[in-house]
Amino acid sequence: TVLRTNALLVEKGNYRHFMEKEIHEQPDVLSRTLAHYLDFGTGTARPPGDGKIDFAALPRLSITACGTANYAGLVGKYWFEQLARLPVDIDVASEFRYREAPLTPGGLALFISQSGETADTLASLRYCREGGQTIASIVNVPTSTIARESDLAIPTLAGPEIGVASTKAFTCQLAVLASLAVAAGRARGHLDVAAEQALVAALGEVPRLVSDALALEGTIEAIARRLHRVSDVLYLGRGIAYPIALEGALKLKELSYIHAEGYAAGELKHGPIALIDEDVPVVVIAPFDRLFEKTASNMQEVAARGGRIVLITDQKGLEHAGITPAEVILMPEMPEAIMPIVYTVPIQLLAYYMAVANGTDVDQPRNLAKSVTVE
Ligand code: G6P
Repeated sequence: TVLRTNALLVEKGNYRHFMEKEIHEQPDVLSRTLAHYLDFGTGTARPPGDGKIDFAALPRLSITACGTANYAGLVGKYWFEQLARLPVDIDVASEFRYREAPLTPGGLALFISQSGETADTLASLRYCREGGQTIASIVNVPTSTIARESDLAIPTLAGPEIGVASTKAFTCQLAVLASLAVAAGRARGHLDVAAEQALVAALGEVPRLVSDALALEGTIEAIARRLHRVSDVLYLGRGIAYPIALEGALKLKELSYIHAEGYAAGELKHGPIALIDEDVPVVVIAPFDRLFEKTASNMQEVAARGGRIVLITDQKGLEHAGITPAEVILMPEMPEAIMPIVYTVPIQLLAYYMAVANGTDVDQPRNLAKSVTVE
C-alpha cells in the first residue's frame, strides 16, 4: 500500500501494517519532538511561542480533545498539577462544547488533536475564543484548521500518521505535554534548576527506553496469541498509569473489536470487580512507584477471584507483586515522570498483536475514521 498525504509519499516498507511501522518509528520521532522542546545541553525546557504563554500568571488551564488525544490530555493534567501546581480541567470536546462551562478570565485553553480537524474539538476552540481565552493547540498537522485558529500552535513532529488508531502521535503529544509541564513548573517557581535538569535528563532517556520496550515485541506477540480469543479485557492503572489503562483499553477495542474497559485501579471495588472470573484477563499497568503497593493490593483482589493477570511492571514490581501473574511484560526501570510515554509501547503492541491474531483490519478498523470532521 502506498498513500499520498500532502504530496508526501508514505510507504509501509518492510512492515505488514502502517500501525506496526508507526509504532517502530517512535524512538526517532520522540527524539525529534523532545529535541525541539528541550535543550539537553543546559537541561532546560524551551517554552514554545517565545513567552506567548505566561505560565506564572496563569490561573487555570483547560484541556479539551477527543479519543486518544483526550487521554494524552489526562496524562498532561497529572503532569501540570504535579510539576507546576497548575490547576487543570480536562474534557472530551463533545461534552465541553455544549456544557456552557464558565471560563476563568486570563485562562489558557489547550486543544490536542492529531489531525487538527476534529469537529468537536474545533467547536470547543471557537467557544473558548469567544470566551476570551488564550488558545493553544498541540497538533500533528501544522496546516490544519485547529492550528490556524490558535494563538499558538505547538507541533508534535510525529510525521504523517496513517493507521487510524493513533500511536506515534499519542506518544509525541505526551512528549510535548511533559516538556510544557516542565517549562510551566519552572516558570511558576515550583521546580528549581536541579529539578528541571533532572526532568529534562529523564525525558532525554525516553527514546532509548522506548527502543528497549520495542524489544519486548516477541514476548508481547506470544502473550497476544494466548489471549486473543477472550471477549472482555480490563485494564487497571493508578495515578499517572491510569490514563494509560484507558488508552490501552481504547486501542484494544478499536483494533481487535474485543470489549475492553480501562479503570482507575482504586475503582475496581466499585463495580468492575463483579466482572472478574478466569475468563477475563486483567492488564495491570504498575511500575514500582510510590503507588505500587496500592495497585498490588487491587491486583491481589483480582487474583483471589481467579482473574488472569497480565502484569506490566519492572523487576522490583514483579518482586513485590505478592502474586504470580499469568503473564508478565517486564519493563526497564525509569523515573515516574516519563513512565506514561514508555509504558504506552507495550499496550500498543498488545492491541496490535491481538488484532493481528484475530485477523481484523488493523490500519482501517471497521466503523472508524482517521479524522472525524462531522459531529
Ligand atoms: C478519531 C480517531 C482517533 C482519534 C480521534 C481524535 O476517532 O479514530 O484515533 O484519537 O479521532 O482525533 P484527532 O485528530 O483530533 O486527534
